[in-house]
Amino acid sequence: MKSYIIEGGSKVCGTIKVSGSKNAALPILAATILNSGDSKLYNIPNISDTKNTLEILGILGCKIKRNSGKIEVNSRNMNKFEIPEELMHKMRSTVILAGAILGRFKEVIFTYPGGCDIGSRPIDLHINAFKKMGIEVKEEAGRIRCKTNRIIGADINLDFPSVGATENVMLAAVLADGTTTIHNAAMEPEIVDLATFLKKMGAKIDGAGTSIITIKGVTKLTNVNYNIMPDRIEAGTFLCVAAATGGNVTLKNANPGHLSAVINKLEECGCTITTSNNSIQIIAPKRLKQIEIKTMTYPGFPTDMQQVFVAMLLKSSGTSVVVENIFESRYKYISEIRKTNAKITIEGRSAIITGKRKITASDMCCTDLRGGAAIVIAALMAKGKSRVSNIEYILRGYEDFDKKLNAIGAKIKLEDY
Ligand code: UD1
Repeated sequence: MKSYIIEGGSKVCGTIKVSGSKNAALPILAATILNSGDSKLYNIPNISDTKNTLEILGILGCKIKRNSGKIEVNSRNMNKFEIPEELMHKMRSTVILAGAILGRFKEVIFTYPGGCDIGSRPIDLHINAFKKMGIEVKEEAGRIRCKTNRIIGADINLDFPSVGATENVMLAAVLADGTTTIHNAAMEPEIVDLATFLKKMGAKIDGAGTSIITIKGVTKLTNVNYNIMPDRIEAGTFLCVAAATGGNVTLKNANPGHLSAVINKLEECGCTITTSNNSIQIIAPKRLKQIEIKTMTYPGFPTDMQQVFVAMLLKSSGTSVVVENIFESRYKYISEIRKTNAKITIEGRSAIITGKRKITASDMCCTDLRGGAAIVIAALMAKGKSRVSNIEYILRGYEDFDKKLNAIGAKIKLEDY
């Protein structure tokens, strides 16, 4: 069990280099299966979710070489198409491997994915899309077997612009017979990064970043080198750390274009933000203004930033309201944050945050990845020593979180016992 011991109450100041994006790295690692060859990937974050994915690729028969941020995957001799149940349960994005394995072998066996417990996370959109592509899907004793002789290009209408379902269809369609069109596709930057990677490999994809994506099946793909995009959620988290502590932080390797909704809300709170092509500086006022936020699909305000904003808004001078529209139960972490004397009430999908109260140091336990980051922010705001336990959730998605925070003046120690 790992914990952070946090001595809160100080401002953070300095420069941080943002890591490669977790949510882009995971589908791109899955996509390395498709070319039956070499993929050299740069800027892959060293976090437990990428380690888990690489472990699965290794078990399936891929050869993996790691050299800090550079990962080489050779999928030539991959010979298995069943994802081990134990690893499947560790995180939700293992489901993305299904589309890539199907694309390559026309067969995959997997179980329902795991990941953070943030309410119902069904995979019906993925399964229905596979069926439309001529794939037979059978479920026996919790195992899902998808099989076909040939994947056929199809018109897919997603009921909701699911990120994972859009990625899975793209991966299954790259080597399919004919053209697949995804209507109501997710438009997140990570979809664009996956499409850019696949196109470098030889795939024919148009429209990524819009709501209609077209994938024309090809018969052969090539070796590829690729640099993963910066993590917009990690970047947004550090902006919130700065805002919550009245700090002054510059982010390098950050793409402000991916963070427009987040930057707008921070400015509304009274923060001064200066951006260049690949950097963002935030200067936070002593006290923030209260705001209202509604989570939406991209380019709206991201659900993955809802938690760190809720914690940060404890520093506002009035009452803020945050509405979670994407996931049905993403407020579990709030009962932990309340231990700091914070007043946050939940009414249906809304969290109502009362500002101006004195936040006190406390022992808190992480309930999920982004909620864990929010708990760390609450601990950084509270004067005195807090213990944040169950940080394995945080380590799933933030590379060197404690080291990066210490480099900007936070006092945070990792304890492993
Ligand atoms: C991805 C991100 C996650 C982010 C989320 C929304 C990765 C690895 N994870 O998750 O960090 O919070 O997008 O931006 O990229 N849904 C269905 N049926 C399905 C699929 C989804 O009903 O078959 C629902 C979900 O329950 C949820 C909503 O659609 O309410 C959004 O889910 P989705 O976009 O699929 O999220 P993920 O791809 O799991």
